[in-house]
Amino acid sequence: MLRVAVVGSGPSGVYAAQTLVQQREVPGVRVDVLDRLPAPYGLVRYGVAPDHEKIKSLTGSLRSVLEDERIRFLGNVEVGGPALPVTRLRELYHAVVYCVGAAEDRHLGVPGEELPGVHSATAFVSWYSGHPDAADAAFDLSGVTSAVVIGAGNVAVDVTRILARGVPELTPTDMPQAALGALAASGVRAVSMVARRGPSQGKFTTKELRELGTLPGVGVRVRPAELALDPAYADPGAAAALPAVARRNLEVLRAWGAADPDPAERDITLRFYLRPVEVLAGPDGSAAAVRFERTAPDGRGGVGGTGVYEDVEARLVLRSVGYRGVPLPGLPFDPTTGTVPHAAGRVLRAGRASVGEYVAGWIKRGPTGVIGTNRPCAKETASSLLQDAGALARREPGPDPLDTMRAAGLRPVLWPGWLAIETAEADLGRSLGRRSVKIPDWAGLLGAAGS
Ligand SMILES: Cc1cc2nc3c(=O)[nH]c(=O)nc-3n(C[C@H](O)[C@H](O)[C@H](O)COP(=O)(O)OP(=O)(O)OC[C@H]3O[C@@H](n4cnc5c(N)ncnc54)[C@H](O)[C@@H]3O)c2cc1C
Ligand SMILES: NC(=O)c1ccc[n+]([C@@H]2O[C@H](COP(=O)([O-])OP(=O)(O)OC[C@H]3O[C@@H](n4cnc5c(N)ncnc54)[C@H](OP(=O)(O)O)[C@@H]3O)[C@@H](O)[C@H]2O)c1
Repeated sequence: MLRVAVVGSGPSGVYAAQTLVQQREVPGVRVDVLDRLPAPYGLVRYGVAPDHEKIKSLTGSLRSVLEDERIRFLGNVEVGGPALPVTRLRELYHAVVYCVGAAEDRHLGVPGEELPGVHSATAFVSWYSGHPDAADAAFDLSGVTSAVVIGAGNVAVDVTRILARGVPELTPTDMPQAALGALAASGVRAVSMVARRGPSQGKFTTKELRELGTLPGVGVRVRPAELALDPAYADPGAAAALPAVARRNLEVLRAWGAADPDPAERDITLRFYLRPVEVLAGPDGSAAAVRFERTAPDGRGGVGGTGVYEDVEARLVLRSVGYRGVPLPGLPFDPTTGTVPHAAGRVLRAGRASVGEYVAGWIKRGPTGVIGTNRPCAKETASSLLQDAGALARREPGPDPLDTMRAAGLRPVLWPGWLAIETAEADLGRSLGRRSVKIPDWAGLLGAAGS
């Protein structure tokens, strides 16, 4: 038997576990999927926007993997802490696959970034997704009329959309009741999503972009003057060389730029060629506006400053400029890339492959890629592990790691505990006249798991 620990139950962890038990070259692989949270699925539960029910329903296929009899879910188990350091975990399993994601937000590095009213999209997403680490967060949107979202990726589109959505569309989601209440009381009428580069260089995908134009009661505005392309792509022949997604995005943006919509209940304005230089405080010391410098394409895909500045009013500023991996104590970490150094998924220690230690997902590749991108990534890693199986299996398996974890003071939440959380969330929803509603705090989750 080969006993493997997969650390992290997001898509990469689940796909790694699935590959390991479903292959036929190495018989008898058993996998424990450990997660520091009592609930599985990583960012599929705590990142994918609550109004994207179709993507959320992917949990159905992740669930069927975790219910495989050769796989065991152990939630509420933090790896790298005093109760379960990396070295101890290595002793308990023949191999460990780290799939811990990239949970931290990135900063802008501009003055005023720490003012009240400025938040990371990561914090905002965690709050409306009911992540238990965000249980103390509170977004009072009642006095906010205009918001600025900095960045042009799919997360920026997500948070822009959630800010612009009406309560009738949010109520059927599993959003925690307090977040729903705060969004219901929101005074936000104008959201500007601001990109430092041009319209062909947005990182968002067309489906997500286009959806902004379908929101009830929402108008989308684009300034035609900001739709100019980098000179490298300005003539029609060169424009054809743009990646297909950029061309499709441009079509959508140009259509919005050509329309002149009447003022709507809420407006989204997409801005380009503006880079943030400072968040300005109002008389109360909170964020009141973001100062941007207009940029111009440099002909090589980048932009340069022009010395022209524009202030965009905002009582709420969300920076949505990407995620970052967090070092796990005891595991090598490259601070430049925010990833664990690896070769085909094998962790590199001092430049050499460490047999028995592997990585997959965002902590391996960096924080880009959709859920599906993690499948081939996890497969590559699993295949490296399976190639090493002969060497790994020489060690006799010790006692059940679950006993060791309990003896170390950990209180793992097993699959029935997770199912009890699901039931409690369905009950909570029913009591509120809604569908299933997330329990947003540690005590509530652990209480439900134990009931
Ligand atoms: C806000 C947001 C929205 C997104 N929406 C979509 C979308 O709509 N569609 C789409 O295709 N893609 C979406 N993505 C991308 C997708 O979520 C990622 O590609 C994917 O989740 C990455 O998978 P992962 O397994 O590497 O990391 P994660 O999903 O982050 O999973 C990591 C897991 O590791 C656990 N963990 C971390 N540290 C430890 C530790 N020390 N011990 C034990 N466990 C630990 C975490 O609790 C977590 O469960 C979104 C991403 C974000 C940030
Ligand atoms: N529905 C979905 O499929 C979905 C939803 C959410 C997330 N995701 C995926 O999850 C991954 C992460 O998404 P993400 O949006 O966090 O990251 P992302 O796609 O990397 O986008 C980050 C954005 O931030 C900008 N940026 C970075 N530093 C900046 C700075 N200092 N000032 C101003 N702008 C700055 C980038 O601009 P530059 O390009 O100029 O660097 C880019 O527009 C992506 O792969 C995404 O597709 C998918």
